[in-house]
Amino acid sequence: MDPMTTADLALRYAAIRDHSVALVAPLSAEDCGAQSMPDASPAKWHLAHTTWFFETFVLEAHEPGFAPFNPAFRVLFNSYYNGVGAKHPRPQRGLLTRPSLQEVLAYRADVDARMARLLPAVLQDQALCALIELGLQHEQQHQELLLTDIKHLLSCNPLYPAYGDAATVEGGLAIAPATAPLGWLPLDGGLVEIGHAGGGFAFDNESPRHRTYLAPFALASRLVTNAEWVAFVEGGGYQDPVHWLAEGWDWRGAQNLDHPLYWQHREGGWHRFSLAGLQPLQAGQPVLHLSYYEADAYARWAGARLPTEAEWEHAAHRAAAPGADGGGGAGLEQLFGTAWQWTQSGYAAYPGFRVAEGAVGEYNGKFMVNQYVLRGSSCATPPGHARATYRNFFPATARWQFTGVRLARDL
Ligand SMILES: [Fe+2]
Repeated sequence: MDPMTTADLALRYAAIRDHSVALVAPLSAEDCGAQSMPDASPAKWHLAHTTWFFETFVLEAHEPGFAPFNPAFRVLFNSYYNGVGAKHPRPQRGLLTRPSLQEVLAYRADVDARMARLLPAVLQDQALCALIELGLQHEQQHQELLLTDIKHLLSCNPLYPAYGDAATVEGGLAIAPATAPLGWLPLDGGLVEIGHAGGGFAFDNESPRHRTYLAPFALASRLVTNAEWVAFVEGGGYQDPVHWLAEGWDWRGAQNLDHPLYWQHREGGWHRFSLAGLQPLQAGQPVLHLSYYEADAYARWAGARLPTEAEWEHAAHRAAAPGADGGGGAGLEQLFGTAWQWTQSGYAAYPGFRVAEGAVGEYNGKFMVNQYVLRGSSCATPPGHARATYRNFFPATARWQFTGVRLARDL
């Protein structure tokens, strides 16, 4: 980590913790308590669980005379850490009408006050600083989940309530509309390095940095747009098994799906539910809320493929520093801040990956099965949270995240 002062750390801690509370300001207590599906959590649970992380992993081990705010919270707000002990079942988080939202906010305030007392003593302890930074990065991940989960919840309401106004949510609903036709940017590839290079924070799954070989390839200059996806929908793309992976075809058929999540065909054409309520579909905006199966089927239909995560990362590094050697990468748009981009790479350990010791070792490593890597970041990702080496991951069926498609092809 960069050298930091107590004031830096305290300010960073306060800013990130306050942002979580600000995110629920537009919501009622009823909004905050409901759970729309097992994959999503109530906003109240996110607020409590991120607090639990600091109380369980930082205060319990380092606070003189530690006493829990409420001993029952250790189980109630444990997400998946078997090393911590028992946990409340995930699909039943929405049944926790107690503690109230008010009590959860009091829990947050209590832990924040205790953390503020602890912070001046932690700077000498590198490992403890790293743990607190992990807690803050964890909280930022939950800030995005809070928004995706609230969007799903509100979408289940036939009144289609808005979380916020169109000027401020989902990237101002401008989400960088595409004006230019899709371009193909060639990259030489070769023997390249990917993974965290040191300096600044990274999750354990971004390491070790290692070499990998890439054949020459091309990446789409921007993400696939709503207009392009309408052509796939109206051209029968969801009805022709030739485009689909076998599992994807069965998944699509079992749920009778023929358009992305949150799309509706109404009088006047296609609409989509957004955090600003139901909106007419904007042709030039990137298409959002796709499963891996849909992303892959579209790519085949379009005569292309999904990028590998190594191709994506290499291209993102090149885009940040294209250089003069003609290796490509200049002109890539919408890498960050728009939609997470599915890659065809299964989520697996990098060569030489080591799980950290203790319960925080459960953070990433144990999920490295049956999921795909997504790269970039979305309009719901807190600013400054993502980077070129960041590895997000979800199962092939997940649609409620802000997921989109960038095409690739061989050269
Ligand atoms: Fe978590």
